[in-house]
Amino acid sequence: MSTAGPGRDVPEAQIAVHWREEEYYYPPARFIGQANASDPGILRRFGEENFPECFREYADLLDWDAYWHTTLDTGNPPFWKWFVGGRLNACRNCVDRHLPTSRDKAAFIWVPEPETEPPRVLTYQELYVQVNEFAALLRDFCGIQQGDRVTFHMPMVPELPVCMLACARLGVVHSEVFGGFSGMACGDRLADSGSRVLVTMDGYHRAGKLSDHKAKADEAVQVADKLGQQVDKVLVWRRHPGQYVSQTPMVEGRDFFVDDLLPGYRGRRVEPESMPAEAPLFLMYSSGTTGRPKGAQHRTGGYLSYVAGTAKYYLDIHPEDTYWCAADIGWITGHSYIVYGPLALGTTSVLYEGAPTHPDAGRCWRIAERLGVNIFHTAPTTIRLLRKLGPDEPAKYDYHFKHLTTVGEPIEPEVWRWYHEAVGKGEAVIDDTWWLTETGGFLGATLPALQPMKPGSCGPGVLGIYPVIYDDEGNTVEPGSGRAGNVCIRNPWPSVLQTIWGQPERFVELYYGKYCRDRQSTDWRDWPFLCGDGAVQAADGYLRILGRIDDVINVAGHRLGTKELESACLTVAEVAEAAAVPVVDELRGRVVEMYVALNPGLEPGGELETKVARAVERQIGPIARPKKVWIVPDMPKTRSGKIMRRVIAGISNFADVGDTSTLANPEVVDAIRHLVQSRK
Ligand code: WTA
Repeated sequence: MSTAGPGRDVPEAQIAVHWREEEYYYPPARFIGQANASDPGILRRFGEENFPECFREYADLLDWDAYWHTTLDTGNPPFWKWFVGGRLNACRNCVDRHLPTSRDKAAFIWVPEPETEPPRVLTYQELYVQVNEFAALLRDFCGIQQGDRVTFHMPMVPELPVCMLACARLGVVHSEVFGGFSGMACGDRLADSGSRVLVTMDGYHRAGKLSDHKAKADEAVQVADKLGQQVDKVLVWRRHPGQYVSQTPMVEGRDFFVDDLLPGYRGRRVEPESMPAEAPLFLMYSSGTTGRPKGAQHRTGGYLSYVAGTAKYYLDIHPEDTYWCAADIGWITGHSYIVYGPLALGTTSVLYEGAPTHPDAGRCWRIAERLGVNIFHTAPTTIRLLRKLGPDEPAKYDYHFKHLTTVGEPIEPEVWRWYHEAVGKGEAVIDDTWWLTETGGFLGATLPALQPMKPGSCGPGVLGIYPVIYDDEGNTVEPGSGRAGNVCIRNPWPSVLQTIWGQPERFVELYYGKYCRDRQSTDWRDWPFLCGDGAVQAADGYLRILGRIDDVINVAGHRLGTKELESACLTVAEVAEAAAVPVVDELRGRVVEMYVALNPGLEPGGELETKVARAVERQIGPIARPKKVWIVPDMPKTRSGKIMRRVIAGISNFADVGDTSTLANPEVVDAIRHLVQSRK
């Protein structure tokens, strides 16, 4: 392969499943009849000749306090500015403006764990009241002002969108760290964002266990402190108000129970701040590859327009639907397609606590049946798991999905078919949505009523997104050539990240450095955006995403940095070197295996493998726990001393390891192969 596609790091071509390509499925007539986008004219309206004005159509879904004068300003590339001169408030758009028509409509129906606890409905009016009270608390009790950052480390509870919207109301930048992440990971992000306030919860339920989540807050504050960021206040929501479920003491003067404070703010109203369209709305940290975490900074106007528009046309949400995105709000999917997009459209959404397989593999279908969910959005890893644990479960429940969507990783055609036939009962349209934290919203997907589905491919670029595939030299790889390359987006779009928080140079280099044709140019055509995925584009323009080309391993839809994983291993005193490699896994798509070499003179034994696995879990979180830790005599290295992960990944996946003659220590390849393959 002549490209920097996944062939460079993992010999993906040899381990991938065999795709039955070019097999189209068409949406049922019933779906087409009701779809938000059923007129093919929309494809023309978003054609390149109408760029960038086509995006007005999305922005017009919102209420603006002041209309913009310039749709796209390219004056300081690649720091694109969208809807310049416009002013709006994201919270007002997601909450207040729905009150006259939908005060008593459910904004969220929250399904807690255990199932014996009844669902809790939060109407738009209740959401409005809670958001206002919490905003007053943040402003008056914590002294938080416009432009400040506030970090949340919250689980899947309705209090999380309340926190987000309260910040948006005040013009405060929020940064939610996925609840499953460790205290250390949270501390790093707290420090990087410069947050003085951390909002957390004492505990939450998952798969039958009640976690002690508050313990992580203490660690996070300590880590941030060591990094020079002082956290003045920790606001602790109680999962069961009035009853503290954590064993961790509250720190006098620093920690406060939100449910103790809120009565002091009862009935308080906070005017939504009228923010410039370009004001940052939130940060979303993704695993960095080295050192400093990477906070993707998203803007207010462009982001909200784009997620509202794509939620309308791709998720096809209508006012009367009950929509359920089963992702965690701690990830970008939850921000864009649980909170901001659906609320901007005035949707009723389901939120749930717990796991899709607990107490059994019927949980999702029971929830769908009970609440009348008709649009369901989840990740392939969940679908694979549910298919394995309960292939016949969906048939036992009486629900009707008109639309099923997926996100986060490629979905294998066999799994796609089960989703379509068993879960969708052959009646639902499936949409495979491809995008990234940094892109704010969908990049590749099918317009559900207008473009046929093709299992294994996400679809063409979405409305107003013009993808292109380049080889390493920047030559275009033509659609239909069958060759893989680096997928880029040729044009800016309203929800592309503004920058990496505090690291503008890194932003330019990471996303534009490779293919920028002229750094002086203010013509957007000279600045293709590098997505970081390898892909093949078919003659019909559909993209088949192959996986990350950078130092990121996508485990069950979560991005983990290889460097982060490796540094976690190196905190174990005995470990000299470590390499993280992705290994194909039937259920989770990819899992991490760690290869470690010990300091000279040390022998394997004494539960070292467990120690290494624990270290990774402690530093990053349980989702990063390696499937297996291998202690090897040495790492395969280039003559310049670079660890060849590609070779290790080849061995681990029983694939060809490629040419090893240039290694400094080729003999170690056989030693590792012998060790690994004899024990797998
Ligand atoms: C992968 C998640 C194939 C891809 C929204 C991307 C996908 C990374 C798909 C971003 C899909 C996401 N098909 N691969 N439908 N969706 N990916 O930032 O490798 O958590 O680069 O954003 O997930 O992960 P992130």
